[in-house]
Amino acid sequence: MTHEVERLESTSDTCSPAIALCKSIASSKGYYQDPFIHVFVSRSGSRPPLINRGHYARVTAVRNVIFQFLEACGNNSDDSSSESDLAHGQNLREQIVILGSGLDSTFFYLKNMSKIDESEEPETEVDDKEGDLGLRTREYTLLSCDMRNCQELEAALGSAGVDFSAPTLFISECVLIYMKPAEGTRIIEWAANLFPCSIFFTYEQIHPHDPFGKVMAQNISLRGCPLLSFEAYPDCDSQKQRYLEATWETCEAISMQDFYDGLPEEEKSRVAKIEWLDEIEEWKMIQQHYCFILATKDAEGRKLWANLKIST
Ligand SMILES: C[S@@+](CC[C@H](N)C(=O)[O-])C[C@H]1O[C@@H](n2cnc3c(N)ncnc32)[C@H](O)[C@@H]1O
Repeated sequence: MTHEVERLESTSDTCSPAIALCKSIASSKGYYQDPFIHVFVSRSGSRPPLINRGHYARVTAVRNVIFQFLEACGNNSDDSSSESDLAHGQNLREQIVILGSGLDSTFFYLKNMSKIDESEEPETEVDDKEGDLGLRTREYTLLSCDMRNCQELEAALGSAGVDFSAPTLFISECVLIYMKPAEGTRIIEWAANLFPCSIFFTYEQIHPHDPFGKVMAQNISLRGCPLLSFEAYPDCDSQKQRYLEATWETCEAISMQDFYDGLPEEEKSRVAKIEWLDEIEEWKMIQQHYCFILATKDAEGRKLWANLKIST
């Protein structure tokens, strides 16, 4: 096994279960609803309030963007072809591509919210060619590939029926940062070039040079999965620049702290009552070391993304 593959597997085997456990714990505490995430975790545990609140902010930001994306495509509920599609004179069939999904319950959460009749679901196919497990239903496909090879990624998505011309939301939560800068940028460019009507939403670490950032990088590195792009994109401005240079038309990047501060007061007050949080300074420090990036492309001038924002 090459060093690169070992590193990739380590990211998958170590980080993904840890994140899923944190998301499951935060959900069980009542920070947000996720009836399925517990299925993805094999052990129980507890986390301090500042970790739970951090995962609340992360999940809330991702969901905010997903809901805005679906709404912009005219899909508020269970039907992909709605009045809004008709208003645009288009037959929009939106797609969400979660890159480096790890143990991700988003599809099941969204599916549970919609009212699709289970009896309409075709049978599920499971492929296991040469150990690469894939799973495919009409609405959900799980693919395995090394996405640093964009040709491989494109072929995998194509074979899964992804329509490159359809409105597409890419989500990458703590994924690109584990790759070398040029490898991650290649994926960002590839998506911008191939999907004319799309959004790229990223969540990852920033501020590698201060004491907290250095300790964070060291801790993650010790788990066998170093943050290879941490230093190359150290803040919101450099992240933003990265996407704009990769030909995304608009890009907004904000820290998780700014995202949380921008939440409605009543929601923050609900969250504050869930668990007592003593370590406010430490919590803010962590929040400042993560950012959300929202890049959009609307090459056909559909104006679908005109009102999209990270903070709603
Ligand atoms: C830190 S985990 C994050 C998982 C998930 N996005 C989440 O937030 O829970 C990083 C994920 O990226 C995936 N990943 C990293 N490099 C990859 C590559 N070159 N090709 C495919 N997946 C990759 C890993 O397998 C792992 O699932």
